[in-house]
Amino acid sequence: MMALLGEQPHLAALPLAAAASPRPRPKLSWHFVRCDVRQWDGRAKTLLLDVCGVAGGASGTGLFALMGPSGSGKSTLLDVLSGRSVRGHVTGSIRLDGVVTTEATRRSIFGYVLQEEVLPGTQTVWEYLLFHASLRLPSSTTTPANRVRRVRDTVAAMRLQRVAASVIGDVFVRGLSGGERRRLAIGAELLAAPRLLLLDEPTTGLDSASAGAIVDLLAALGREGGVGPSTVLVSLHQPSLRIFRTLERVLLLCDGRAVRFSSASLSLPLCPVRGKTRWVGCRF
Ligand SMILES: Nc1ncnc2c1ncn2[C@@H]1O[C@H](COP(=O)(O)OP(=O)(O)OP(=O)(O)O)[C@@H](O)[C@H]1O
Ligand SMILES: [Mg+2]
Repeated sequence: MMALLGEQPHLAALPLAAAASPRPRPKLSWHFVRCDVRQWDGRAKTLLLDVCGVAGGASGTGLFALMGPSGSGKSTLLDVLSGRSVRGHVTGSIRLDGVVTTEATRRSIFGYVLQEEVLPGTQTVWEYLLFHASLRLPSSTTTPANRVRRVRDTVAAMRLQRVAASVIGDVFVRGLSGGERRRLAIGAELLAAPRLLLLDEPTTGLDSASAGAIVDLLAALGREGGVGPSTVLVSLHQPSLRIFRTLERVLLLCDGRAVRFSSASLSLPLCPVRGKTRWVGCRF
């Protein structure tokens, strides 16, 4: 593990492998998830239809991906799995280690990085992460000095050192770039080292080196995590072949339906080799 992280100093900074007695990776499974919404004109629309899948469990790397074209339901499924209330009627069951969970339980356990994260424009990167650390890391187990160290490590892991003192910014005040905002949102969730982490398009808007580094970091979290291996579920658009190869399993969605759930290597033939099945959309 450290040999792997050692190749990338900014990743080695994050204390992922501090586990004294690693716990098994949590297993998240979803069974016949259906989500219906009522549109503004009163007509019903089915966003997800009988979608099943499983992420985590004892074996593998722990990095799972949802893929599919724009509008296929990736964000909707992540919203449902994370326990965020989607404006609609959701049926089916979502289980953690085989036990049916409620939305409230999932909201309290899961880390979730949204596709479009809302960040406070007037805070600096350092202030935002320290604020998050104060809220998310219990004072019973972490001292203020520990929290500052975690924030410093996260800033290094997310390669945000150069902008640590910069204001995040918003539509009125120019601040971080799109990629820096993305890395900040991911870093804020990583601070709490959640055992189950969902990320909606964590690599969108990043250059290929940053995207690869983020996926390596998530894969490391999936292998060892802070207190045992975590289960990491991401939605991805057009991953490079290198990123694709780090995935353990892929759930392909199309029009709200699961069209394939298999190991990444078995999904590879579905990618656009010689122009076939373009919608999967890997970049080679
Ligand atoms: N509340 C809603 N009412 C009506 N339609 C909705 C609602 N929420 C989502 N949709 C529709 O559901 C479909 C799936 O949306 P979703 O955001 O999950 O897609 P996605 O796969 O994440 O797409 P992208 O890759 O562009 O982010 C889209 O066609 C979207 O317009
Ligand atoms: Mg989306």
